[in-house]
Amino acid sequence: MVIKLKKKVIEIFNVLKEKNADYEASELTKELSIDYIVLMSAINDLIDVNLGKFEEDEIFQLSLNEEGISYLKNGLPERQLLNIFLKRNIKEIEIEELLKTSNLESNIFYIGLSNMKKNRWIAQSKATGETKIFLVAEKFPETELEKFLKRFEKKERINYSNLTKKEINQYNILNKRKLITKTKGTQRIISLTEKGKAIKPSEIEELKQVSKITSEMLSSGTWKDYQLKPFDVTKPGPLLKAGKLHPMVKLINEIREIFISLGFTEIRGPIVESAFFNFDALFQPQDHPAREMHDTFYLNNPKTAKLPEKDRVKAVKETHENGGDSGSLGWGYSWDEKIAKKTLLRTHTTATTIRRLAQYYRNNDVPPIKVFSIDRVFRNEKLDKSHLAEFTQIEGIVIGERVTLCDLIGVIKEFYNKIGFEKVITRPGFFPYTEPSMEIAVYYDKLGEWLEMGGSGIFRPEVTYPWGIKNPTRVLAWGLGLERLAMLKYERKDIRDLYINPIKWLRQESY
Ligand code: PHE
Repeated sequence: MVIKLKKKVIEIFNVLKEKNADYEASELTKELSIDYIVLMSAINDLIDVNLGKFEEDEIFQLSLNEEGISYLKNGLPERQLLNIFLKRNIKEIEIEELLKTSNLESNIFYIGLSNMKKNRWIAQSKATGETKIFLVAEKFPETELEKFLKRFEKKERINYSNLTKKEINQYNILNKRKLITKTKGTQRIISLTEKGKAIKPSEIEELKQVSKITSEMLSSGTWKDYQLKPFDVTKPGPLLKAGKLHPMVKLINEIREIFISLGFTEIRGPIVESAFFNFDALFQPQDHPAREMHDTFYLNNPKTAKLPEKDRVKAVKETHENGGDSGSLGWGYSWDEKIAKKTLLRTHTTATTIRRLAQYYRNNDVPPIKVFSIDRVFRNEKLDKSHLAEFTQIEGIVIGERVTLCDLIGVIKEFYNKIGFEKVITRPGFFPYTEPSMEIAVYYDKLGEWLEMGGSGIFRPEVTYPWGIKNPTRVLAWGLGLERLAMLKYERKDIRDLYINPIKWLRQESY
């Protein structure tokens, strides 16, 4: 039976057959001056009819560097220098004079000189007071090193594992002389199968294929000679470069929907916050290191913030000083209202959930209350591939009677499962405003690692009592990183990619 193949495929097949050898794909593309994609599609056609094979291997490849290539062209320095001896019939000469008259760059000259000695082509003597060299060999056959170098005439890259022991020695010399580089790469080998090697040219015929029939073909009747190309409906269509939602917006919407489906309501709070809501109401003492300038962006304009109702401020003040009615001893220092009035860019959205506790007090709300927020926070961080100075937190609280740590773990696990992470662990952590506190990590299959995602816990009585939330009503709370999650979900290694909008990435993300 004859096999029908496209013209280009037959051409490639014939080259492989003629040389009867394995080919590196990139060599073959050069030899035939065709694109890699064209070659691979032809090879796939050959594989389909069991005439060709294709194998991919991770290998070490050797290639000459610029200097090595120049020696391949002009000869190694020792050969260049030797040629001067031979051309001018020099038997002995003083080094200085040779250098002056040789026309070689001085570094090449000295490299040549030392290697001529190593090859035992010359000897050096100081007998007469000046340094002279003598030609001592009579024949100067091609050295092993030169033979090895020449292999790069035919191939730009050589597979390290194909070297003989002898050649490895020569490679080591070239490496010492810094003329060669070894890089890890993929080798793509194309070859013929037994069937491909055995098949006779008469058994292969050109396949005349068209993707559409023209009116000329119809009127001339030649359409009968052609086969219609089948459509492959599984192939991706052309890339559509239309506008679409940014991946971060999509992710935020997805998170919103998850919390809403779990019965939560979204809240938002101000970006410009008072130290009171960002720190004081969270029972963070006024000399707490996280309040320092190097973590927190304080503002000059507006310089001070309004505090809430006097009696609530007093309740917070007393909690810091002596525990108030929370049953705690407090921090035992004298609380300063001026510090609480400072304005800043909120460092966490926990400030926003505390505002919700204040509202709870004002409205005489009754539990359960479940709210979340996905919003921007600011910290004075140095930017790098895993840090931003402004980022986003996924924050939430549940105010409920007799709610427990198990409920908290349940909500967090449910959230991560819904967003696509099956394994979630919680481990003991510390925050000044929760007790107990938990860190949250998710398992990332691709890395086989647990990655830290954020913090959580049950608000301490010192945090909830000033807002009238008292045992057995408790507040479960969490604050998770959005960008961390986005990096895993979108497989971006650099957190900055999420906001500098690399167009290639954005185009390949789905709608
Ligand atoms: N606010 C904490 C942070 O920014 C997270 C957190 C929120 C921890 C709520 C416990 C409770 O890292």
